[in-house]
Amino acid sequence: MKFLITAGPTREPIDPVRYLSNRSSGKMGYAIAEAALETGHEVILISGPVNLTPPDGAKLISVATSDEMFDAVHRHARDCAILVMCAAVADYKPARVSRQKIKKRDQTLSLELIPTRDILASLPQDRQFIVIGFAAETENVEENARQKLRDKNCDMIIANNVSSSDSGMESDENEVTIFFRDGERQRISRAPKKIIARELVKIFLNAREKRLTKKT
Ligand code: C5P
Repeated sequence: MKFLITAGPTREPIDPVRYLSNRSSGKMGYAIAEAALETGHEVILISGPVNLTPPDGAKLISVATSDEMFDAVHRHARDCAILVMCAAVADYKPARVSRQKIKKRDQTLSLELIPTRDILASLPQDRQFIVIGFAAETENVEENARQKLRDKNCDMIIANNVSSSDSGMESDENEVTIFFRDGERQRISRAPKKIIARELVKIFLNAREKRLTKKT
């Protein structure tokens, strides 16, 4: 089965030498790619800039900006079975990118930001593949995750609380709660990301299986 997995942060340029980004390390997405490959599946990994070696056997597509990630996802989504949007795509980007390096001056500088295009929300409603979104929250984790599940039309949302430094972003460990469309939820308690990834891949394959049996 073909997995399409996004991982890592995006970089939104301000000028030729500066950008806006976030602390995503890509570890969770890369671990999911590895777990899917281990179980014999095909993986296309669309990755933002990270310091990780892609797992052997994955087809790597390197991108930098949210627009590049948007295009790469749309190019490859159609013929995948499972789309895992693990990347921490920037929610905002500078309204204008300066062609020259912005000079330092002795006064405040304001940057105008505009929303990026939401990749998840842009996917077709009527689709063959299942879609998994991620929610990194620092507060009201459940409420925000359920809202994203609805607004972004995902089959499930994996929520993690990123307010603690020993779990979530940049860490080797994570603890997550998976919210499903039928209102169900499932918790995976704290463990190395590689272990969590194996559990998640089983859950994704199950959801895909259920979808197929429903349709026949
Ligand atoms: O809204 P928020 O950024 O918290 O949503 C997180 C989820 O949405 C992740 O699965 C992320 O990959 C996806 N996302 C997206 N396009 C964006 C921003 C986030 O697909 N522009």
